[in-house]
Amino acid sequence: MTILPTLPAELKAALDARLQGLSRTDAAARAARISETYRGGGSSVTIRNQADALAYALARMPATYAASAASLNAIAEIRPDFAPQSLLDIGAGPGTATWAAAETWSMLQDFTLLDANAALRDLALDLARASTRLCEIGYRHGDARAQLARAEPADLVIASYLIGELDAAEQQMLAELMWSKTRDTLLVVEPGTPAGYARIIELRAQLIASGAHVAAPCPHDGACPLRQPDWCHFAQRLPRSQAHRQIKGAELPFEDEKFSYVALTRTPVAQRDARVLAQPTVGKVEVTAKLCAADGVTTARVPRRDKEAYARARRWRWGDGVV
Ligand SMILES: C[S@@+](CC[C@H](N)C(=O)[O-])C[C@H]1O[C@@H](n2cnc3c(N)ncnc32)[C@H](O)[C@@H]1O
Repeated sequence: MTILPTLPAELKAALDARLQGLSRTDAAARAARISETYRGGGSSVTIRNQADALAYALARMPATYAASAASLNAIAEIRPDFAPQSLLDIGAGPGTATWAAAETWSMLQDFTLLDANAALRDLALDLARASTRLCEIGYRHGDARAQLARAEPADLVIASYLIGELDAAEQQMLAELMWSKTRDTLLVVEPGTPAGYARIIELRAQLIASGAHVAAPCPHDGACPLRQPDWCHFAQRLPRSQAHRQIKGAELPFEDEKFSYVALTRTPVAQRDARVLAQPTVGKVEVTAKLCAADGVTTARVPRRDKEAYARARRWRWGDGVV
């Protein structure tokens, strides 16, 4: 089923409970230091203890959850029959993508998470105890490649906001290994920056050469038709709670998380719809939308006089798959 971009109630309650007695000023300072490191091209190694892990989760988990949820929704929409039983969440951190996948597929029952960061692993296990579905997750601590080599293959493999923390050679090796452990579908999500998109597009080309098919967002397995300075990315709006705003030092009651992703499958999906690549413009005369179609990027113009098509196109949103 398609899911909301907001944290599930059990997860939100578990995070809120950990906020009790926590200094928001201290958490905000920790979150700011961690984001600063990310912006400077660093990684999550600066998350060293429970207070850091919690600050990171409070500041970033709502947004990475929203990006995972939107990508998983795209898979669920294009493959309504997909019914994964097992999940491997690589670079799982606090377990964000696992929570989103559990929400999407009620039949998922075998969850394995891998991560090198002990503080995030401890937080993930602590949060998972609050969930009826996730209280028995397996969490392997250590380097992704070494841990993955020992893991059983899974129906669904996810790497959410992970590969940007690896060097190019490591990304290539991990991509091949993740694919070898994928029984059905591999989802890779990255920040929606030109650099995040470039990593996705490299991994996509590498794994298509190894026999993968693209389920989403692309409606084809060919080379990406976008040319610099354009890049394929999407945006998911999510609400910010009061605590979330305080920890981020933000004013607005919502944020838009930009992300890039690719979902790769072992067998080609039956029908791949065109993808809306930017928020369409709804005018009095027509709806104009930038679409990625099987034969390249086009601008669709749906005139108002074509009532049914216009009414449908008015509902198109950036990121939708449309016929
Ligand atoms: C930005 S966090 C993303 C966490 C989570 N997947 C999410 O979407 O919220 C990146 C995670 O990748 C993990 N990571 C980075 N390099 C790793 C490696 N070589 N092996 C295992 N985990 C790694 C970090 O410890 C961190 O938890």
